[in-house]
Amino acid sequence: MKRGKFIVFEGIDGSGKSTHARLLKERLVAEGLDVFLTREPTDGEAGVLLRRCLTGASDLPEKAIAGLFMTDRIDHILRPNEGLLARLERGQTVLCDRYYFSSFAYNSMFAPMEWVIEINRVALESLRPDLTLFLDIPPESFASRITDRGERERYEKTETLRRVRDNYMRAFAALPEEKVAIVNNDRPIREAAEEVYALAKRVIGE
Ligand code: ADP
Ligand code: TYD
Repeated sequence: MKRGKFIVFEGIDGSGKSTHARLLKERLVAEGLDVFLTREPTDGEAGVLLRRCLTGASDLPEKAIAGLFMTDRIDHILRPNEGLLARLERGQTVLCDRYYFSSFAYNSMFAPMEWVIEINRVALESLRPDLTLFLDIPPESFASRITDRGERERYEKTETLRRVRDNYMRAFAALPEEKVAIVNNDRPIREAAEEVYALAKRVIGE
């Protein structure tokens, strides 16, 4: 049985990760491939707790939250039968909306990036993506893809997303052995989807 490929979608909030993951899945399934689409935070125990933290319903310190993302990720990788490793070993192609680069980019806003990378050592040692697709949009585009925010909040959000994007670039530079492709998603969805498909097919065919 040929091991499946693990393809991750990364990017700032609203960059098109879930849209492109879904489009790629549809296209690969239509070709007869066995595809599993998943995301982080997961719907597992740690993931549920994390979603509560993200809505502000928890006062856990940021470093503890970074640890929860790591715990959720290890659960995602190692869960018996349903985990990422089990699925890849069964030959499934796994598409994942966010993985450890999200931790490096977001959680390093509150702790040194080296520390965030270090606490993710288990993931780095047990499952590296065959391809990470970074969907790139200018942080200010986020504002035009959402409608219900005031000017001030919009400005603050843009500044935060600019820092997150910079952190992603720093993380890619810090881990040059990772297979990362930057895909411009500041253009019609169909055009970006073609590039995503071509990049994914190259990896799946290896
Ligand atoms: P994410 O999962 O990264 O948060 P989504 O896939 O939910 O982002 O996309 C956010 C919004 O932007 C959605 O309404 C989606 O339809 C839209 N969108 C995605 N890609 C593009 C694109 N290339 N051009 C315009 N709008 C897009
Ligand atoms: P998500 O629901 O994917 O948000 P969006 O659809 O806006 O992209 O992710 C939830 C948030 O969790 C997002 O702001 C990024 C953050 N996050 C981390 O801080 N660290 C991580 O390791 C992961 C996976 C996500």
